[in-house]
Amino acid sequence: MSAIDLYRHDIIIVGGGGAGLRAAIAAAEADPSQSIALVSKVYPMRSHTVSAEGGAAAVARADDTLEMHGYDTVKGSDFLGDQHVIEYFVEEAPKELTLLEHWGLPFSRNEDGTVATRAFGGMTTKRTWYAADKIGFHMLHTLFQTSLKYDNIVRYDEHFVSKLLIANDGSCRGVAAHDIRTGEMKAIIGKAVMLTTGGGGKIFPFTTNGMIKTGDGMALAYREGVPLKDMEFVQYHPTGLPGTGILITEATRGEGGYLTNKDGERFLVERDYGVGSKAELGPRDMISRAIVQEIEAGRGLSGPYGDYVNLDLRHLGEAKIDERLPFVRLLGRTYVGVDPVKDPLPIRPVVHYMMGGVDTDIDCATQLSGLYAAGETACVSLNGANRLGSNSLTECLVFGARGARHMTQYAKSIGQIDDKALVEQAKAEADRIDQLRGRQKGGEKLSEIRRKLNEAMESGCGVYRQQDTMKACLQDVSQLRGRVADLQLTDPSRVFNTEVIAALELANMVDVAEALAASALSRKESRGAHTCKDYPHRDDQNYLYHTMCTFSPSGPVIGKKDVTLGHWEPEERKY
Ligand code: FUM
Repeated sequence: MSAIDLYRHDIIIVGGGGAGLRAAIAAAEADPSQSIALVSKVYPMRSHTVSAEGGAAAVARADDTLEMHGYDTVKGSDFLGDQHVIEYFVEEAPKELTLLEHWGLPFSRNEDGTVATRAFGGMTTKRTWYAADKIGFHMLHTLFQTSLKYDNIVRYDEHFVSKLLIANDGSCRGVAAHDIRTGEMKAIIGKAVMLTTGGGGKIFPFTTNGMIKTGDGMALAYREGVPLKDMEFVQYHPTGLPGTGILITEATRGEGGYLTNKDGERFLVERDYGVGSKAELGPRDMISRAIVQEIEAGRGLSGPYGDYVNLDLRHLGEAKIDERLPFVRLLGRTYVGVDPVKDPLPIRPVVHYMMGGVDTDIDCATQLSGLYAAGETACVSLNGANRLGSNSLTECLVFGARGARHMTQYAKSIGQIDDKALVEQAKAEADRIDQLRGRQKGGEKLSEIRRKLNEAMESGCGVYRQQDTMKACLQDVSQLRGRVADLQLTDPSRVFNTEVIAALELANMVDVAEALAASALSRKESRGAHTCKDYPHRDDQNYLYHTMCTFSPSGPVIGKKDVTLGHWEPEERKY
């Protein structure tokens, strides 16, 4: 068996983005005597949070209330969000953003010096705090630099966690982490583990998500028997650049941009797509469907990367675009050769976010003792069937912090850990990865399986879904699970062997995709981002529940969990 190195901490956080860094800081503050490992497959400043553009939501203005933010979020979720979670979230949101402001986040300002807020989709008033159109860059910097103040946060940058370590009593007590730089395996042992690894948008071919978003945390938990919740709900952002899928922020519409078809019509105003007077500021699920319908009705435009509609910002003027949306201008010029000051930008819906994830309670605890999750990798049930834009960065902060405080308490209650079984598991994991490196005997090509996975997901689990195409998608993905076990790899080296990492990521993606397709097939209604043509209406009688998908060797097993309702009664979702 391979030799491994052993490291001990109290708390282990996997993922160094918004939720992970916020959790590490909260844990370090909650108990300075505890040691916190922050393990990330990339250097933290390369985490996907960095690419967030438009802003983070929290009540800030005199014309706004927590009740309004709560109701907007419940309605946006198509009544599938858990209302106690939503109430806690809206209460904590202003405190968290104010904290970040005090830590140095350079929010854009009003004339009087107060923090500026902008309009975002599905929100009744301006409550999205922003930093021009680069909130993610500034938020990640603020969190990262703040984390450096704490000596009890120990970073493991560029370490890929390939397995959770499970003690003899069945609780999670560590991770097997592959050091990408050296190829060595580390057993990192602790009393509690939190997963904050983001979503898995790369299972789809056309996405705003960076290459690193391969559903790692979801797959780690799923394989240990923790259910993935509400996986069928995949958010398409209405405005991605054709070709690359690069995000053009919703802030463009928050600042007054129009969506127009080939005839120059503002179709959200001209036709009834359910968004009412909100027009371009309707929620993402509805606007994405409207764009698809415009294109299918022959009112889209055609380009080298397929059909699209236009996002017209010209009437905002150069000064406003340069002040509020400078990054959008740069992206337009660089990636599609369009200066939005002079011409409309081509856009089309693009996979952006997963509402589903690792099932947790409001404390971010999973069913597996010692395991927590927060941020996009988790499903604490804030977003239900459709997330409102700008709620997710705040979610990372609010629940990263809450989960970390809870973990700290939990860790205090755990005595000495018996390492033996954990070390054996890490050694077995080291052997498994050793055998994978340069594995010649397999017959399958990594790029081919990845391509097939992307094709299956796009054809079965897109904006509009059908029972037969979802069924075919699930069959295709299940078959790929077998093929991933037979990969042929070419690089035997240990140092920065990115091929091995890609193989581990692919296995994660296939598991996540299978759970997603099985969950989607099981929901025979249309709600939020899950639009099934065979069942075009919401069915509260039969489907007002969370889908729980549990791993089994013979395929995903679907169960249910009650939605926590509260004082907002389910009603028809109209704007
Ligand atoms: O459009 C955007 O800036 C995206 C924001 C979000 O997904 O929260």
